[in-house]
Amino acid sequence: MPGGVSSPVRAYAPYPAFIASAQGCHLTDVDGNGYIDYCMGFGPLILGHAHPEVVEAVRQQAGQGMLYGAPTEQEVMMAERIVRHVPSAEMVRLVNTGTEATMHAIRLARGHTGRDGIVKMAGGFHGAHDSVLVKAGSGATTHSAPDSLGVPRSVTEHIHIVPYNDLDAMTSLLESKGDELAAVIMEPVLGNVGPIPPRNGYLEGIRRLTRQHDVLLIFDEVITGFRLSMGGAQSRLGIVPDMTVLGKVAGGGLPIGVFCGPKDLMEQVSPVGKVYQAGTFSGNPMSLAAGLATLDVLERGDHATLEAKGDAMRAGLEDMVQDLGIVAKVQGIGSMYQLFLGRDLVENYDQARGCDVARFMRLFHAMAKRGVHLPPSQFETNFLSTAHGEEDIEHTLDAYASALREVFV
Ligand SMILES: Cc1ncc(COP(=O)(O)O)c(C=O)c1O
Repeated sequence: MPGGVSSPVRAYAPYPAFIASAQGCHLTDVDGNGYIDYCMGFGPLILGHAHPEVVEAVRQQAGQGMLYGAPTEQEVMMAERIVRHVPSAEMVRLVNTGTEATMHAIRLARGHTGRDGIVKMAGGFHGAHDSVLVKAGSGATTHSAPDSLGVPRSVTEHIHIVPYNDLDAMTSLLESKGDELAAVIMEPVLGNVGPIPPRNGYLEGIRRLTRQHDVLLIFDEVITGFRLSMGGAQSRLGIVPDMTVLGKVAGGGLPIGVFCGPKDLMEQVSPVGKVYQAGTFSGNPMSLAAGLATLDVLERGDHATLEAKGDAMRAGLEDMVQDLGIVAKVQGIGSMYQLFLGRDLVENYDQARGCDVARFMRLFHAMAKRGVHLPPSQFETNFLSTAHGEEDIEHTLDAYASALREVFV
């Protein structure tokens, strides 16, 4: 196994902890060490590990068959939920991963417009297929491969990169190349170089420009969907894209991807239209059981408490940065946060890349020693869940205080 892992984001030196079990916000490794988890499977586990309602739903579904290769009522229930909550969703296609969903959303945008050009943000991450492995964040940046080898130039020549939070760059690109572009794909809150929220007016500007130039706007809400609100970032921030991609939380811990949009666009997807998508496991009953159970719990209204936990963590860290007199930026939104080391402003990819990555990895290990598991990269986002209690957050802040002293001496 290259690097000993099944996905590069999990790798770190000298070798990653192997996990034996997890419950709530706690992980236990194979040596019996316990950790409070802020990786949370890189985002899906908004209710924590092994939430009883999710486990029961999965158990029940397993006993009734795991895969039918035929439509199910659960698919309709999931599609209805998505349409109810996500402002841009009128029609839905369920797939298996965020990677698949962005790939199909891009194909649909190209099929619809007859154009090949795609705009993405520097540091945006939309999975690991050819069109989006250009200046990609997440593990691609952590492991120094933001522009992956093996992607044909005939693909990358259609991909245009702009810095996040820079409306001037988007304006001049759309003015010069607007008629070659099928879509802008972006995370509304950049999440894969750490969380970077939009500047005031930025998303409004992107929406205005894409409409003006007749370019589709795709929000990749694989991280933010159902996390920042039931309707994701678009609902919380009040900007409605043309198409939306979901994943992570929607599958409640099992694999899922979703792309959705207006009926006239989505009806171009096969078998109604001529844009092809297919998958043996698409819309599989197990993922839907876990996803629907997760949405049932969230619909009872957990976002306000998640928000309060995010605020408590960010406020505690900000006080600490002040008290210690170190250069660092605490940033995030809702239940997402990161502590960027060595910079006091992080509004785009280049600024994130200027952070003190080596010191961050020392912090990561110092936190692990103190029983806290962070995602192993400066370029990831820490996730809170409904399972994180007040004492867990207090313990984590204490661990940060002593770990930061250790790595800044
Ligand atoms: C914003 C975003 N889009 C797409 C993906 C890809 O999703 P998956 O890992 O399910 O393929 C990710 C994964 O982290 C993501 O963060």
